[in-house]
Amino acid sequence: MANFGSDNASGTHPKIIESLVLASSGNTAAYGDDDLTRSVYKRFESLFDCQVSIFLVATGTAANCIGLATLASSVSGIYAHAEAHIVNDESTAPELYTGGARQFTVGGDDAKPDLEELAQKIDLSGARGVHSVQPAVIAISNLTELGARLSPDEIVAYSELAKSRSMKLFMDGARFANAVAGGSESPADLTWRAGVDALSFGATKNGAMAAEALVFFNPDEAMLAEFHRKRGGHLWSKHRYLAAQFDAYLAGDLWLELATASNASMARLRDGISSSNNASILAGGDGNELFVSMEEDVAEGLLQRGHMFYAWPSLPKAYRLVTSFTTTTAEIDEFIEDLNS
Ligand SMILES: Cc1ncc(COP(=O)(O)O)c(C=O)c1O
Repeated sequence: MANFGSDNASGTHPKIIESLVLASSGNTAAYGDDDLTRSVYKRFESLFDCQVSIFLVATGTAANCIGLATLASSVSGIYAHAEAHIVNDESTAPELYTGGARQFTVGGDDAKPDLEELAQKIDLSGARGVHSVQPAVIAISNLTELGARLSPDEIVAYSELAKSRSMKLFMDGARFANAVAGGSESPADLTWRAGVDALSFGATKNGAMAAEALVFFNPDEAMLAEFHRKRGGHLWSKHRYLAAQFDAYLAGDLWLELATASNASMARLRDGISSSNNASILAGGDGNELFVSMEEDVAEGLLQRGHMFYAWPSLPKAYRLVTSFTTTTAEIDEFIEDLNS
């Protein structure tokens, strides 16, 4: 049976487990002051083709919130799409880490923040000087929360808006690998060359055990991240285990290989669903997430047969299907067969 519940349902890739085992022998310096961590920083610099500051943590919420806290403060405003993970799925961690920055939300198709609405909200919310919040960060996601891929031109439009208001652009990249694998542009084209100031570079959903990297493209802006990570309890003492995951994940472009497999599974699933009379596509499909509409009895029937997926309450009669690097063609074909039966 198919498990399209979440890419977090997948396990850890064997190469990452092997890397953890290898990293386990002998003693080494703690808190990131070890050679493996330093070599991972170098891997990131060659991946992004620029100087970067990297902070390894164990969850996406920590990467996002340490990133936001570094770019914003307790008197700041953060602007994002209403569907964004930082708005809906990170409890009050953004407020906790930033010390109380306020989030403002806008609409927009495919969970891409609408530019005009963003500009209006920023200007209105920051218009009353000391009485209002100080607009600090525009936060976007790639893939977006509805599984769409942002192009470099779309990202440039957000960064131009941010720059015009002296704000920073933050990208939630929990599925950045799927976004890169879904097009022909480089990681640099989708980030700093398009004006992104900081990125949470996800790995957990795509083969790691528990590892995410917070990437700053201007190291001068990263000074506070170290302190926020420590304060937030995310500076791992046995840091080599975070580094070991990234060492294997980035070596030989394993991250892209896994995301490409996951996206290919989604393409097969999307093709099957688009030719079915029992479901229709609402959003997504650029990477590894698809949002489909089904009658309740159809969805119930699939769940009863043992397939796994969740309802997505913000869209009508909607369900989210997510593939991962472990999804098999057999799972997809069985799901489509059951959908059509
Ligand atoms: C868009 C997005 N951002 C961030 C995260 C990271 O969340 P977590 O703190 O569960 O690792 C997720 C995980 O579901 C996500 O979907």
